[in-house]
Amino acid sequence: MVNINLIRKSNLAFKLSGHVSSLVAVFVGATSGIGLGTLKQYAKYAQGGKAYIIGRSKSAAQPLLDELKESNPTGTFEFIETEISLIKNVDLACDQIKTKEKKVDILFMSPGFLAWGGRIESAEGIDVPHALRYYSRLRFVYNLLPLLTESPSPRVISILAGGKESAIDINDLEVHNDFTFAKAAANGTTQTTLAFEELAKSYPSITFIHKYPGFVDTGVIGRFLSTVTGPMAIPATIAKWAVLPIVNWFSTTIDEAGERGLFLGTSARFPPSNPKTDFVGVELPQGVEVASASVVKDGVGNGVYRLGPLDDSAPDGDVLPGYRLDDVGKRVWEETQALWDRCLSRAA
Ligand SMILES: NC(=O)c1ccc[n+]([C@@H]2O[C@H](COP(=O)([O-])OP(=O)(O)OC[C@H]3O[C@@H](n4cnc5c(N)ncnc54)[C@H](OP(=O)(O)O)[C@@H]3O)[C@@H](O)[C@H]2O)c1
Repeated sequence: MVNINLIRKSNLAFKLSGHVSSLVAVFVGATSGIGLGTLKQYAKYAQGGKAYIIGRSKSAAQPLLDELKESNPTGTFEFIETEISLIKNVDLACDQIKTKEKKVDILFMSPGFLAWGGRIESAEGIDVPHALRYYSRLRFVYNLLPLLTESPSPRVISILAGGKESAIDINDLEVHNDFTFAKAAANGTTQTTLAFEELAKSYPSITFIHKYPGFVDTGVIGRFLSTVTGPMAIPATIAKWAVLPIVNWFSTTIDEAGERGLFLGTSARFPPSNPKTDFVGVELPQGVEVASASVVKDGVGNGVYRLGPLDDSAPDGDVLPGYRLDDVGKRVWEETQALWDRCLSRAA
């Protein structure tokens, strides 16, 4: 585990380093929760620097934008207002960034919600929560790869459920058959890790992080329990009012999750497989070591990190070794691209 005090030390070292003022970060899903916590820490420590914030409502985010500017008067915070469960909107948002920037250093993604029940189809035909947790996030990665590869130490971070990968139906990657929200959530988790491992083979200068944050007091579970209907509604209501407050008591605060989020984006604990330059992040404080990558061959890690709540590398688990042997990552990545094509032809 990485102690929070060491993380604070690292974040302070980041602030004092020469790399902060030219940073460009892209935050997707940072209008609340873990993304918001990380964005605020970024503003606090990256004196100067630039952040694009992709969200649904600029007017709702205006108090946040004012707060960020107050915290970091020389920083630039640009809000791109759009609904990113649609792939075509992800493309338009990325086009805006590409016209203005030559590089992106940090892509931090945490959008999503959990909803009880069946598919909530977008106009492009994807289940909306599934798009937010996987298909739209990966589209941001795909679109921004040319800019990420221009950064000296590029990071892609997805806050979801790294380390919780489980068996998925590889003949139904989109979860069309026997859909449940839990099945879709599990599928998004496994596909994220496999897609990151596939991308890391072609983009070895990029660090890819898939993190399970543990319980963070963002309200996401309470909102989920409010969506439960039918016979489970009563236990869900009891859980919401009687159990959740106790769980929240022990959960991580948004501020601390944000400190950890900034650490993921900046620390040398997470080097890429083949760095472009000598700089692979802020030097490690004493007591912190380089994390274990998800695949290590001949002593060289693949630059993909599956992390638990305290930023430790998760053990491999039961399913990933077999999926790697069967090249399932390649299939996941090909089908992901095919699904985007279908979405975009439907939108045209
Ligand atoms: N918090 C936890 O305890 C926990 C535990 C395990 C995993 N996770 C996962 O970690 C990620 C982040 O969690 P969190 O607790 O920080 O979430 P959160 O507080 O609920 O924040 C979610 C973000 O997603 C955006 N969002 C929600 N619905 C959207 C939609 N239809 N279109 C576009 N954006 C939408 C929200 O934007 P608006 O402001 O516009 O609503 C917000 O910025 C999620 O994938 C969650 O499942 C969280």
